[in-house]
Amino acid sequence: MIYDFKLLYNESVFELTRINFDETKAKAEIDAIFNFCFKGTNWNNDRKILKRIRCCVRQRKKQKPLAYILGSEMCYGLEFSVGPGVLIPKPGTDSYVEEALKNLEGKKSPVVVDLCSGSGCMGIPIAYHRQDALVYLVEKSRKAFFYLEKNTQKYSLKNAKPIKADIFKVESVHNIDLIIANPPYAGEEDMKFLPEEMRYEPRMAFDGGKDGFDFYEKILKKWLPELKKDGTIILGAARNTDRVLDLLKINGLKTNNFLDSYENSMIIVGKFE
Ligand SMILES: C[S@@+](CC[C@H](N)C(=O)[O-])C[C@H]1O[C@@H](n2cnc3c(N)ncnc32)[C@H](O)[C@@H]1O
Repeated sequence: MIYDFKLLYNESVFELTRINFDETKAKAEIDAIFNFCFKGTNWNNDRKILKRIRCCVRQRKKQKPLAYILGSEMCYGLEFSVGPGVLIPKPGTDSYVEEALKNLEGKKSPVVVDLCSGSGCMGIPIAYHRQDALVYLVEKSRKAFFYLEKNTQKYSLKNAKPIKADIFKVESVHNIDLIIANPPYAGEEDMKFLPEEMRYEPRMAFDGGKDGFDFYEKILKKWLPELKKDGTIILGAARNTDRVLDLLKINGLKTNNFLDSYENSMIIVGKFE
């Protein structure tokens, strides 16, 4: 049987507009789903492709994130494998990488630590663009670590070292030029009102304790002593921006902060005075 894919395309776009997507977004997502379902398939096997497309659209209608359906997401021009259990790289994460690379300019063979690495969407692009750097990526979750290792291997990065560990218990790395961390920073209240799509993502990636501040003080206590005097620390934050800035200042750092390119989060940069 030859199936009318044009009809299926229009039906699928319509299905997504029914869950409040505007038509442009619905079309872009259905384009991505069609590309994904047709990739590497035998064009004659209409029935199989049809089934795959319908299955993807069904999942998307239930608000499963598109990146989990397609199995990948882009960050800083690189493709990251993702799936349930790992946080999806968010639009705006590129700004962290850009800031990190800017701060590494002029430093020879720098040592970088990416804490709470998730998929590796921050540390891996740094290692990719600075092959002379040694980048440690620390992630505690078993499921997230699976993707972290997979993404490191994908780009054959010998200078990226994934470590499966708790950032507060792992043996410290010394003489660090750059620490980058996007720790969980949602508070108890935020956790109750996570958008539907984010409920598919691991709680552990968001849960920053009662007021979302659990990680910052502990990160600084353990990791700041390992930062070189001319080193840089880059932290992600949202509602806690002022508290994080104060904390850095108390620890003798001068700070700078700006919104990422998608205004999803605040990027906080600290350097010793
Ligand atoms: C907000 S996500 C950030 C992931 C990634 N850096 C990104 O921007 O997409 C936080 C990550 O920290 C990890 N995590 C939470 N507690 C941790 C801990 N104590 N030690 C190491 N990783 C931890 C979570 O599993 C999650 O992958």
